[in-house]
Amino acid sequence: MSKKPIIVFEGIEGSGKSHHISIVSKYLSKKKINHIKIREPGGNPNSEKIRKLILNNKSNFNKDTDLLLYMAARSENMNIIKRSFNKKIILIDRFTDSTIAYQHYGMGVDLNLIETLNKYLLKNIRISFTFLNIVNQKNLQKRLKQRKSLNRYDKFKMSFYNKVQKGFLNLSKKQKNKYQLINSNLDIDNNEKLILDKIDRLIK
Ligand code: TMP
Repeated sequence: MSKKPIIVFEGIEGSGKSHHISIVSKYLSKKKINHIKIREPGGNPNSEKIRKLILNNKSNFNKDTDLLLYMAARSENMNIIKRSFNKKIILIDRFTDSTIAYQHYGMGVDLNLIETLNKYLLKNIRISFTFLNIVNQKNLQKRLKQRKSLNRYDKFKMSFYNKVQKGFLNLSKKQKNKYQLINSNLDIDNNEKLILDKIDRLIK
């Protein structure tokens, strides 16, 4: 495993992934370990513009347009990722698995098309490890209700998020050694400890 791994945090809404990635980033900063943290969609000024467009409640793009916009946002992030690849630890809040989980498993877009576009954008870049954060329906509903504002992708039916989460789990089963499941229905302190222990091992 590279000492400068690419570590991705995946999961559906309310699964705690954004909280966990910031815990890791703070941990690395405290230890003065060089890293970057980006999110998708977003992560740089151009991709943040695309993010606003996709997630705006007034947008009603079709699923292919959404796919191409997520890929456009990724394309703008690839410059940053390539610059830091093997030089710094790269933490990413959502990446290629999100596109397969949401656009393919959730919305039915062709899997081959998504994989082809991801391969085209990533070239030789490989994800080293993924923390897959999972949440049950009760906590998902509770956490969505607590949000101050909901974007276009926070308003799907529960059955949609079920399909997406199952999609994430399918992906994790294909490469079990590269995924760790984090059950966010369980104790948050213990989950943070599990994640930081794994981080220590990934960067040792
Ligand atoms: P966020 O809430 O984690 O910031 O993500 C925004 C939404 O974008 C979330 O509902 C998942 C969705 N998404 C996709 O549908 N496909 C993708 O490729 C990515 C990166 C995100």
